[in-house]
Parts: sequence; C-alpha cells; structure tokens
Amino acid sequence: MKGFFLTIEGVDGAGKSSHMERISSCFQSRQYDIVATREPGGTPLAESLRELLLNQDMCLETELLLMFAARQEHINKLIKPALAAGKAVICDRFTDSSFAYQGGGRQLAHHKIQSLVDLVHPDLKPNFTLLFDLPLEIARTRMVRERNLDRFEQEQEEFFERVRSTYLERAHAEPERFVIIDSSQP
Ligand code: TYD
Repeated sequence: MKGFFLTIEGVDGAGKSSHMERISSCFQSRQYDIVATREPGGTPLAESLRELLLNQDMCLETELLLMFAARQEHINKLIKPALAAGKAVICDRFTDSSFAYQGGGRQLAHHKIQSLVDLVHPDLKPNFTLLFDLPLEIARTRMVRERNLDRFEQEQEEFFERVRSTYLERAHAEPERFVIIDSSQP
C-alpha cells in the first residue's frame, strides 16, 4: 500500500482532537493528500454505530464487537482505498483504543481483541502512532470542563488509570511505531 497511515491515541481529555488540524496541515505541506477521519466512525454506517456506542448501555462484548464492526466498514470503504491511492490517512483513534479501553478499561481478555484484529485487519497496521499522554487529574479537569459526558467519559478514575497504563505498555512494546507526547501543557 502506497499511502501513509497515522493514528492518534490517548485517554479522553488528552487533547488529541485539537491537534488533528495542525497534524493534517503538516502532511499537506509535504504534498500529501489528506484523509482526516476518526473511530468509531468515518463512514455513514460506522457513524451510526458510534452514536449507539457512545450513548446506549450494552454488554461489554457487544461494545467490542460494534467497535470492530464499525472498523471493518471504515477500513474497507475509506482507509484502504485512500491508502491505495497514495493518501495520508490521519485517524483519531484506531485499534490501540480497543486494546486500551475494552482490554485495559473494561478488562476483556487480550486474546478476544486480538482475534477480532485477525478477522478484521490482519494485514493493516498504522505506520506511526502519536500517543497523547498526561496525568489523569489534568485529563479529568479538561473533560469535565468541556461538555456533556458520553458513556466512556463517565467512567471512574480506575478505569482511566487502566486505559492509560495499557496505552503506555503498548507504546513501550513498539517504540518504532509509537511516539509518546506529553500533553499536560495548556
Ligand atoms: P473520541 O472520538 O475520542 O471522543 P470525543 O469525540 O468525545 O473526543 O472517542 C470516543 C470514545 O470511544 C472514547 O471515549 C474512546 C472510545 N473507544 C473505545 O472504547 N474503543 C475503541 O476501539 C475506539 C475507537 C474508541
């Protein structure tokens, strides 16, 4: 595949979405065509699944399956065609979020998540991942200040501690793919 696949990760309140625009213009200045997208979401069906995921109460396994159902659509309809056309795909969250939130946060077994990776995208991995990392007290303050909280944002501190530490473990296990960014600054 000719394009470039960049993903942006971090706990809620880490400020990653605010950096999407600047990151996109950085790629544009290097003559890339950009596709900026997000998960869950990125296609009409995946955006409908996002609505359910953020707002409806559901079983943990249902949540995991819907995340990957949305991802399957997103990959086939948007990500792969864009990469094949040589574009830079900049994605706000991808499968590292599933390991961090459904694995770390919700404590679903790693092998269950990995089996969905094997089913949905055995042949696709981000070229590069920016992990926006910060102490949870700061993330919580930003989140609460912002708006109505969704189903994930309403979780307790221990949930986010597990999400953050799963992210950091993954980043340390694959230092060639991840860059950890200290996003505690205003
Ligand atoms: P996000 O777009 O960061 O939320 P917001 O628009 O509020 O900034 O992500 C939505 C939520 O989905 C976020 O709390 C993390 C969660 N999520 C998972 O739990 N697993 C996943 O695989 C993905 C992609 C997201």
